[in-house]
Amino acid sequence: MSHQLLLLGALALASSPAFAQSRPAGATDVGVAQRLPAARGARTPARLPAQFPDGWRHAAGGDAVFGAHAMVATDAPLASRAGVEMLKRGGNAVDAAVAVGFALAVVYPEAGNIGGGGYMVIHMADGRTAALDYREVAPLAATRDMYLDSAGTLTTKSVVGPLASGVPGAVAGLTAALRKYGTMSLAQVMAPAIRFAERGVLVDTALHYSLHNNASLIEQFAGGTAFLPDSAAPAIGSTLRQPELARTLRAIARRGSAAFYRGPIAEAWTAELRGAGGIITMDDLSKYRAVWRTPVRSTYRGYTLLTMPPSSSGGVTITETLNILEGYDALPAFGSTRWAHLLGSAYQRAFIDRNAKLADPAFVQVPIAQLTDKAYAATLRATIGADRATPTATLGGAPREGMETTHYSVVDRSGNAVATTTTLNNLYGSGVYVASAGFFLNDEMDDFAAQPGRPNMFGLVQGEANAIQPGKRMLSAMSPTVVLDRQGKLLLVAGSRGGPRIITSTSQVILNVIDYRMTLADAMSAPRLHHQALPDSLAIERDGVRPAVADSLRAMGYGVSTSRGIGLVNAVMRVRGGYEGVSDPRSSGRPVGY
Ligand code: GLY
Repeated sequence: MSHQLLLLGALALASSPAFAQSRPAGATDVGVAQRLPAARGARTPARLPAQFPDGWRHAAGGDAVFGAHAMVATDAPLASRAGVEMLKRGGNAVDAAVAVGFALAVVYPEAGNIGGGGYMVIHMADGRTAALDYREVAPLAATRDMYLDSAGTLTTKSVVGPLASGVPGAVAGLTAALRKYGTMSLAQVMAPAIRFAERGVLVDTALHYSLHNNASLIEQFAGGTAFLPDSAAPAIGSTLRQPELARTLRAIARRGSAAFYRGPIAEAWTAELRGAGGIITMDDLSKYRAVWRTPVRSTYRGYTLLTMPPSSSGGVTITETLNILEGYDALPAFGSTRWAHLLGSAYQRAFIDRNAKLADPAFVQVPIAQLTDKAYAATLRATIGADRATPTATLGGAPREGMETTHYSVVDRSGNAVATTTTLNNLYGSGVYVASAGFFLNDEMDDFAAQPGRPNMFGLVQGEANAIQPGKRMLSAMSPTVVLDRQGKLLLVAGSRGGPRIITSTSQVILNVIDYRMTLADAMSAPRLHHQALPDSLAIERDGVRPAVADSLRAMGYGVSTSRGIGLVNAVMRVRGGYEGVSDPRSSGRPVGY
């Protein structure tokens, strides 16, 4: 075996055009479900085994969950079950996704929410596609320099405390999706969430440690009473009830989003927030709207990607990156020096554009057509040297972002698919818990460039386009994505958590499936890398490449840093006879299918 991390020898063949042509007529890229016998009609295995470096913590050849009819993959098993409950009652993927969204707000309070926002990409089996933007907006009283102190220095008020929150969009978004594409009533899809909040959920290891690890943030505000009884995370095996949240959810189930944005609950929670020093008003709530958009539609080696347009940067940045990579006949061996070089260089160039040019299209002219153009990608590809890193500064440079989000993927028995990413930004958002209504508020204001040209908490340096303005959506990296195969049939539904790393982790799962022909389980377990232009360094998961590869990259001029984990993806892939679902082996999630 060479020093490079190699897939088995067939991999090179699989990536070549000749392999593509030699596929049996009518064959799709659909692999054989891992739990189905390989003999079921598959003459050419569409998926190939992967091999990861010694020491890499996730073994190749892992399991996926198989469902003959439908699949829901989320970061919380109970939320996956809530989705499947809807599907088994005859609901479609959108009904299930909305049920999951509300369930996550109860069982996964670190990122599931009604006090945050998100994005949804929908691909209906009849061909209809849609993208729903329910990102938070800056309150009307927000100002460009609101997070700078009198000396012009950036404070932490965009991250923690009552000033950090944008106007929440989650309730508007989930109810809008259900109205347009769902088949069930709000009361039906919210029933699991209400049940979880009212009757309580078992505190498992993941929830216990999530609360334990974030206790110092939670106890700063009103959340301690609800989540830290006796000033500590509830014991594993105990029951956590959320009666205030149950009341709010019941009201939403009865009255729709109006219960959140108008009337007594809205009055109570905005008054509570303003009492603590926040600036969100009833006027802000009455003006909030979720926005239907056209998905970014792109192709990559004959596959079609449907992804999220601005106000998220996710779809454009993934498209730009993949357009750059498509110009290479085949990607280099997975895990090799050249693999890291080409992917890192492509991300670096796409992030320069992302950081400078993308923002809320209602405020800024966003050059989507140019950035997603294949000829433009060719000009960027031409700047990638054969064996040298390019310093970001010489590429024109470019002028921070929450890491903790949650993504879920749903496919129903008709083949309708929903990819949804939602967030409070950091875990437990701003830490501010609205006691009267039972939810945490986001710290999404930190996704603006609070000080254009200076790094945010993720080291991202962003430009004027993403400066704070009242009513504006802060730029996101959320990348819910649906991939269709070469015949136009649903292949993959994916997305991730991780701030800017959402873009890199989501797209690497896609590359692993398309270029490296990995099974979904391998595509999710594979080591990941990340480059966001600034800081100008290539982050690679710990033990994700062999030491010799890291040495070669350093010799090429890369600043190589080691990362504990890059992204948490939840994905569903069509396979012969049904669907596979995989939650990231880096997460506590679990898909449920049937
Ligand atoms: N708060 C992370 C994102 O929107 O990208």
